[in-house]
Amino acid sequence: MVRVGIITVSDRSSRGERADLAGPEIRAWAGRMGHAVVAESIVPDERERIRDELVAFAKMGVDLILTTGGTGFAPRDVTPEATLDAIDRAAPGFAEVMRQRSLAITPHAMLSRAVAGIRGSTLIVNLPGSPKAVRENLEVIERAIPHAVELLSGGVGDCGSP
Ligand code: MTE
Repeated sequence: MVRVGIITVSDRSSRGERADLAGPEIRAWAGRMGHAVVAESIVPDERERIRDELVAFAKMGVDLILTTGGTGFAPRDVTPEATLDAIDRAAPGFAEVMRQRSLAITPHAMLSRAVAGIRGSTLIVNLPGSPKAVRENLEVIERAIPHAVELLSGGVGDCGSP
């Protein structure tokens, strides 16, 4: 069972001015996958605040933290920078494949600066902010997640299976 943490990064949602639709989208995905959502929060687009939340979730022993939002080019989009502040090791494959496959859907995919990496034994993956983008990107990475988590926990995974 993968323990998932969800962090919605949005100034407006954190102030209660806009409903968070992306977080629930991730929660629904986790349910379909049989993963357990063990932590959820909404934070403003502030680098330190995001980093602190990532660190706190990792400390709780969350296997996978999925952030949504703040990966674009707007002046306050700093989720990738906060993630880089929090990780020990980069995991570039996730962002590479998400952008590559998303480009077949929209040219705006190249505007996501999402990154992924590892803090201790926690995998952190940035997702864009729209529920549609969340769905599309999770579809791309979902098959690799159980094996990633298994490897991070020190389990000896069988890399031969798909
Ligand atoms: N990726 C997919 N698969 N589908 C999308 O609709 N939207 C893009 C991009 N990635 C999109 C996507 C858009 S419009 C932007 S601006 C960037 O993600 C960054 O989104 P964010 O600032 O909400 O994180």
